[in-house]
Amino acid sequence: MKKDLLCMLDLTKEDISGILDLADQMKYDLRHGQAHRHLEGKTLGMIFEKASTRTRVSFETGMYQLGGQALFLSANDLQIGRGEPVEDTARVLSRYLDGIMIRTFAQREVEDMARHASVPVINGLTDLAHPCQVLADLMTVRERLGTLAGAALCYIGDGNNMCNSLTVGALTAGLSVSLAVPAGYDPAPEALTFAQTFGDRFRLSRDPREAARGADVVVTDVWASMGQEDEAAARRQAFAGFQVNDEIMALCAPHAVVLHCLPAHRGEEITAAVFEAHADSIFDEAENRLHAQKAVLTQLLAPGS
Ligand code: CP
Ligand code: NVA
Repeated sequence: MKKDLLCMLDLTKEDISGILDLADQMKYDLRHGQAHRHLEGKTLGMIFEKASTRTRVSFETGMYQLGGQALFLSANDLQIGRGEPVEDTARVLSRYLDGIMIRTFAQREVEDMARHASVPVINGLTDLAHPCQVLADLMTVRERLGTLAGAALCYIGDGNNMCNSLTVGALTAGLSVSLAVPAGYDPAPEALTFAQTFGDRFRLSRDPREAARGADVVVTDVWASMGQEDEAAARRQAFAGFQVNDEIMALCAPHAVVLHCLPAHRGEEITAAVFEAHADSIFDEAENRLHAQKAVLTQLLAPGS
């Protein structure tokens, strides 16, 4: 049966380490000039209903490096943008393509696409989840700390798609997770319900200082996500104080790794000084989208290769 990647809840701890092991291998081999052509002759369709730099370019390049190709499909140009049902789009695209990546608003649309497509569907970001980003984040943490199990991750900011997927992915992978999110901006109920089964490995507070204390990994994301542009001013007020800055970094472990999925708003969720001091890990994280997704694409589109 075909497999999809719709959210981090789809993955076990073993699934995550399997993807990261393959991603590490692919990164090493790319650097040493060894090509993997697991997806020769295969095509990935990439539907975008929101903007993207990293997701588009890393998927497109990843498919090319694996011997396949990717099609950029803007929702503005597809009939789906004019109301053709997702279930028809899924069935049509399945006749041409070997996999579908979709970035959209509602998680429901991705789930409907997966239900009606006969080829694997990958969530390239919804309002609820961003699993591909979180695989790259975990890969970066493992590279930098040497391990995932037992590390303390702190996330400061909006309980958004990144927060949901990071909470689920990090807990599954064996990290502890401490969130600092303002009241009214909590993560999605499904992420919280999952997290609460981890006992004292999970904490949700309203105090960034408390969340940061002793953290090995510090993560943040924009205060207003794509689609929330109208709320940006109100959110700037609600999130004042929920910033990764020198004061927060002084409370973390001295070796703390800073991650940001990008794009970043310097002076809002992170100061320019902290961003630049940790640019190496942040841009490794961006690079690792390529390697982690090549591992996911190989596993889903060419299982057993
Ligand atoms: N981090 C991320 O998904 O970036 P893009 O929006 O540029 O794809
Ligand atoms: N939370 C952000 C992530 C962007 C990669 C958004 O959804 O816009």
